[in-house]
Amino acid sequence: MSKRWFQAHQRDTWRRQARSKGYRARSAFKLKQIQEKFQLIRPGDLVLDVGSHPGGWTQVSVEETGSDGLVIGIDLLASAPVEGAQMITGDVTEKSSQEVILELLQEGQKVDGNFLGEPKNGKQRLFNSIVSDISPKLTGQYDRDQAISLELVATVFDFTLPLLVPGGSFVTKIFQGTGIEGIVNSAKQRFSRVQRFSPDASRNSSSEVFLVCKNKLPKPKRESRGKSVAQELDEHLEAEGIIQQKSTEPEPEVKSGFRRIPKKE
Ligand SMILES: C[S@@+](CC[C@H](N)C(=O)[O-])C[C@H]1O[C@@H](n2cnc3c(N)ncnc32)[C@H](O)[C@@H]1O
Repeated sequence: MSKRWFQAHQRDTWRRQARSKGYRARSAFKLKQIQEKFQLIRPGDLVLDVGSHPGGWTQVSVEETGSDGLVIGIDLLASAPVEGAQMITGDVTEKSSQEVILELLQEGQKVDGNFLGEPKNGKQRLFNSIVSDISPKLTGQYDRDQAISLELVATVFDFTLPLLVPGGSFVTKIFQGTGIEGIVNSAKQRFSRVQRFSPDASRNSSSEVFLVCKNKLPKPKRESRGKSVAQELDEHLEAEGIIQQKSTEPEPEVKSGFRRIPKKE
């Protein structure tokens, strides 16, 4: 029995199970298994689902938050509505999409009968949990895909962490390989518990792992204060000799799939 056949068979099994349980994607089982082990989402929570299309993780998040909670999903691709969730179509790295999320938080808009972001005890409501299954469009060149994915994860961390309540949780898909320690170390500066986890539902995709971060600290630890996750990732890659220090040269020497992505306005 070839490895490829076995992996395809496993994927089909999860796909069939997803269909029979009414989930839009087999990836729903990955979040279910993460939730079973780590209990990241609680009833009544406000959850942000990053890279949410077609909505499998959103469906699981809605199940977990219950009728008092609320889930916001964002993806480049439009998704069919999910009851109990607000689906946004946009690029999470773009300022315009980030503003839509911030507006939803700040203005306390009414979604499916719930008030999102309604201040509680005079305090702005923040997310209790960020769940991210974000994955770039794969080119098939592993080094390049993995590098783009890490940079995407760093951007998601930097945008969403200020919106996450102290004590809140964050889970993200991450591709194994060069630079991953830079992200893991950076997460450890910001959360009291950080762990890599491979749910059974993703074991057939050997390159992906989930970084589960629990209990956001009120402030990052001293070494990371005033630094972004993206900056710490760059520093790690420089220290490992994977990218060269930023210079006046237009393009740094690149020894793997990494390249510097210009910041978007
Ligand atoms: C593996 S899929 C997510 C599946 C989803 N968790 C589910 O259960 O239905 C990864 C998603 O990340 C999205 N994505 C990639 N880059 C993005 C970006 N910059 N902004 C928003 N979504 C992005 C892709 O469009 C894709 O739908």
